[in-house]
Amino acid sequence: MLWSQFVFSSLLLIGGGRRVIKPRVFIVNFFRSEAEAWYNIPEFDLLAQNITVSGFSALFPDVHCTQDGSICQLITGQAEINAASTMSSLLHSPHFDLRSTYFLLSGIAGVSPRQATVGSVTFARYAVQGGLQHEFDAREKPAHFPSGYFAQGTTAPGQYPGWIDGTEVFEVNDALRRVAVSLAQSAQLTDNDDCKRLRATYKSPIYAAGAAPPSIVMCDTLTSDTYWSGALLGEAFENTTLLLTNRQGVYCSSQQEDNAVLHALVRGAASDLVDFSRVIVMRSGSDFDRPPEGGDAADNLFAPMVGRSPALLNLRLAGVKIVQGIIDEWAATFERGIEPSNYIGDILGSLGGQPDFGPVKLI
Ligand SMILES: *[C@@H]1O[C@H](CO)[C@@H](O)[C@H](O)[C@H]1NC(C)=O
Ligand SMILES: *[C@@H]1O[C@H](CO)[C@@H](O)[C@H](O)[C@H]1NC(C)=O
Repeated sequence: MLWSQFVFSSLLLIGGGRRVIKPRVFIVNFFRSEAEAWYNIPEFDLLAQNITVSGFSALFPDVHCTQDGSICQLITGQAEINAASTMSSLLHSPHFDLRSTYFLLSGIAGVSPRQATVGSVTFARYAVQGGLQHEFDAREKPAHFPSGYFAQGTTAPGQYPGWIDGTEVFEVNDALRRVAVSLAQSAQLTDNDDCKRLRATYKSPIYAAGAAPPSIVMCDTLTSDTYWSGALLGEAFENTTLLLTNRQGVYCSSQQEDNAVLHALVRGAASDLVDFSRVIVMRSGSDFDRPPEGGDAADNLFAPMVGRSPALLNLRLAGVKIVQGIIDEWAATFERGIEPSNYIGDILGSLGGQPDFGPVKLI
C-alpha cells in the first residue's frame, strides 16, 4: 500500500473540513506511567499528534496518536469513575470514528499467586465488578461468614446477587483474546532480581504459579475501586468471580477500571459507535494480591512494589506485538474482524445473544 493511501485510510475529512481520525488500535491506559511506557519507542510515535477531548480528565486532557492516526492512546485516570467518564467522552467525541477500532486495555494489576506472578501479562475473557457488594467490617460480620463481602440483595456469601445493575460481568471475544495471546507470546518479557526474590517467598504448592517466572497467562480480572490485600479477600473475590460467571471465570488480576471501560464500550456498541468484538483486556502483575502463606496482608500491601517497572515494561513489550500484528495484518484479517464464537457483552444481553452467565434478574 502506498504511504499516501495508508495515511488517508486513517484520516477522514468530514463536513467543514474537520479531520476525523479512524484509529486501527486504541491503547487505553489508566495512569501516567502506563502511558509513558509506550513513548519514545522505536516502533511508533504516539506523541506525533495530540487531540484535546472535551470531557476528559483535567490531568489527562488529550488523546495521543501517531501521525497517520492508525494508533492512538489515552489515559483515563485511575478508578472506575474516571475510566467510565473518559471512555464515554471519547466515544461521543466528533474527532474520532471508532467503529472498526481495536481497543487494547493496558494496565498493571495485583495478581493472584494461584494463577500468575509479578511481571506476567494476563489476558481476560471475563471482567467481574468485585466492589459492587455489601460489606461488613470483619470484626462485625456474622461469625459464619468467611469474609465481610457478600452480593447485593442477599443475606450471605455465596448467594447470587438479588439486584443486578448491568455492570457486574463483561465477556469479551475469546477468539480475539487467543490471537492477542499468540502475538504477545512472541515478546521477550523482562524480569529483575527483586521480583525473583519476592517469588521465591511463595513456597506453598498452591502458589506454584506465583513462584514461576513471568509469562503470558489467560485468566480473568476483577474490578474494585478499593485497593485491597490479603488471602481471605483474595479467596472471597475468587468466589465472587465463580458465582457471577457461572463458574467459568478464573480470577487472577485485581484492578480499578476494566468494568468501567467495558461498560462504556458496551453502551457505545449498542449505539453502533464501536464494535465490542474488538476489545482486548490486558493486565500485567505489578504486585501480589496476597502475601505468601503465613505472611501478613499489610506487609504485602506496604512493601515496595518491586514488580512495578517490569510490569509496566512487559505491558508494552507484549502490547507492541499485538498492535503491530493488527496493523500488519489489517487488510488480510483485522479489518473484517475476528468472529467471536463465545457470547460477548454484558450481563443484560444488551448487544444481543444470551449471556452464558446469569441468571439475569432486573431490579
Ligand atoms: C503531545 O503532548 C506531549 C506531552 O503530553 C508532548 O511531549 C508532545 O510534544 C506533544 N506533541 C505535539 C505534536 O505537540
Ligand atoms: C469461598 O467459597 C468456598 C466454597 O463455597 C467456601 O468454603 C469459602 O469459605 C469461601 N471463602 C471466602 C473467603 O469467601
